[in-house]
Amino acid sequence: MIIAMRTGDAPAVEVRGLTKRYGDVGAVRGVDFTVEAGEVFGLLGPNGAGKTTTVEILEGYRARTAGEVSVLGRDPERRDRALRERVGIVLQSTGMYRQVTVREALCHWASFYPRPRDVDEVIALVGLEGSRDVRTRRLSGGQLRRLDFALALVGDPELVFLDEPTTGFDPAARRTAWNVVRRLRELGKTVLLTTHYLEEAQALADRVAIIKDGVIVAEGPPGELGAGSSRYRVSYLSEGRRVELHTEDPTELLHRLTRDALARHERLEGLEVARPTLEDVYLELTDRAEEV
Ligand SMILES: Nc1ncnc2c1ncn2[C@@H]1O[C@H](COP(=O)(O)OP(=O)(O)O)[C@@H](O)[C@H]1O
Ligand SMILES: [Mg+2]
Repeated sequence: MIIAMRTGDAPAVEVRGLTKRYGDVGAVRGVDFTVEAGEVFGLLGPNGAGKTTTVEILEGYRARTAGEVSVLGRDPERRDRALRERVGIVLQSTGMYRQVTVREALCHWASFYPRPRDVDEVIALVGLEGSRDVRTRRLSGGQLRRLDFALALVGDPELVFLDEPTTGFDPAARRTAWNVVRRLRELGKTVLLTTHYLEEAQALADRVAIIKDGVIVAEGPPGELGAGSSRYRVSYLSEGRRVELHTEDPTELLHRLTRDALARHERLEGLEVARPTLEDVYLELTDRAEEV
């Protein structure tokens, strides 16, 4: 199996049986996933699902309880410099660079990397051209988050971790952040992002893993995840109002509905059969887990 994987690019991230306990709390309980080089992978789940724990283990900030983890072919727990230079991490605003300008902050941070990106290019990438010479303490919250992105990118990392990159963003800042992620993908970077926004995972990720209570409950391209759901939606108009039904067996349901309609000499106006969307799957999986 390992030999087969070596025929292409080695995966950027491999996680096998990852487990993390905080005392009695099992925050991550046997998680497996692989992030291929050059893809945007989304870890989607509600608060408390174990996203930050997983990402911080991959970043080397937390120690795992059990399991195997490989980031660019290395164990992040060793925190070696060679790995740090190849990985970009968007930190929560640290306020480290309060007294200097955006450009000065980025030039300073870039000096720690062997092959940094051009600072002005990075400033343009995150949309901070208008604030290039502004002292960072004068930046708005949204601009500070853009600076965080820029700091993560200036070292020209191969792999970028983004933990809830747009939580608390206004729509304009979110759009910028999404464009940055898309640009990273175009540049051939690998991105692992976590989010609790379904539409963010849908908009950005090549593949999504849905995590709930420390367990991955579904995984696949966002467009295909719906196919794994049992919840087809069948709807039609009845006296001007749309009736919506959910079913695991659309063939049987349609047969029954059309047979009954024909028996009444009626037509089912506006009949629609919708394959489950990622949203249906997300709700179904997270609801179901809550019922347990
Ligand atoms: N340092 C910690 N000590 C104890 N429990 C923690 C700690 N960090 C996270 N947890 C718990 O682990 C679970 C997963 O948390 P987290 O990884 O932050 O989830 P997410 O990022 O998906 O919201 C939660 O139940 C949380 O309360
Ligand atoms: Mg989190």
